[in-house]
Amino acid sequence: MLKEDITILAIESSCDETAAAVVVNGREVLSNTISSQIDIHTLYGGVVPEIASRKHTERINQVVRQSLSEAGKSWDDIDAIAVTYGPGLVGALLVGVSYAKSLAWALNKPLIGVHHIEGHISANYIENKDLEPPFMCLVVSGGHSHLVKVVDYGEYEILGRTRDDAAGEAFDKVARAIGLGYPGGPKIDKVSCEGNPAAIDFPRAKIADNEYDFSFSGLKSAVLNYLNQCEMKKEEVVTADVAASFQQAVVDVLVGHSMDAIDRYGFDKFAIAGGVASNSHLRAAMEEACKKRNIKFYRPSPILCTDNAAMIGAAAYFEYVKGVRSGWDLNAVPNLKLGER
Ligand code: KG4
Ligand code: ZN
Repeated sequence: MLKEDITILAIESSCDETAAAVVVNGREVLSNTISSQIDIHTLYGGVVPEIASRKHTERINQVVRQSLSEAGKSWDDIDAIAVTYGPGLVGALLVGVSYAKSLAWALNKPLIGVHHIEGHISANYIENKDLEPPFMCLVVSGGHSHLVKVVDYGEYEILGRTRDDAAGEAFDKVARAIGLGYPGGPKIDKVSCEGNPAAIDFPRAKIADNEYDFSFSGLKSAVLNYLNQCEMKKEEVVTADVAASFQQAVVDVLVGHSMDAIDRYGFDKFAIAGGVASNSHLRAAMEEACKKRNIKFYRPSPILCTDNAAMIGAAAYFEYVKGVRSGWDLNAVPNLKLGER
């Protein structure tokens, strides 16, 4: 027989945020502490894995303690320790996994390893207490672009994935090319508000053998070619127009694929997740497309779209109630696939 309230301490360290959160019953966030390393990685134009691991090691203890204290909880109140064990940077993941294992061992609490993408999807449960599977979800982050049928809690069917760059990766690479720097997504989002999204007709890739798969590397090359041509012809590059036109091409593809899948599979609920889901233009376009089809649209607040541990605590709860527990041999799995344990 389960206790009425299950309080989970969750840890996330798969990339460049050291994060911890305390979450009750998968949907109530008592604390969500995030220590971002963006300032350091910005100096190098992207995430440097060795620096990420070192910073996680330096910060994790403080972040976890702060999270527990902000939640007003003691170690005794915690029912389980959850941690992201993949996918992500192996050295970065290892810091969180080792810390969580030590904590769970010392406190004699159950340990739950969580899939990072499952965490992103589960961020939607936090602010939408009514949201339950089945629903369709588009996960777009720095490392992943997945169109997923959420069949049940922890049960997924992948309809489409990227063949090359992830959506967020394309944002970051294009931002670098047009001189906006790292992290690219938020910068393109902002500068696009002053640009014309129809100024340049960048390609919208279609994949012949799976209409739900994505490809963003051709679009990235098209932007680079455009910039080279401007330079050769000594034409001025209007950064805001390039950013807005690139972003429009990404948004068109993401909305198009998602709505095609909704029309085909007949879901009445659609959610977005991952860092790119915080893009204001994507959110607006998805909202409008869902309204047209009279289906319910879910999107986490931007702070729950980018990497955080509250989403890991949400995902872990639904695993916990199913009886899933990880062993002391839990390891970091950098290329963990969704739906695998
Ligand atoms: O989910 P996330 O924080 O980390 C991964 O799991 O990868 O996603 C980070 C990605 C980065 O590529 C970043 O540029 C992108 O999300 N991103 C955005 C926005 N905010 C973050 N992309 C477009 N528009 C945004 N507002
Ligand atoms: Zn992420």
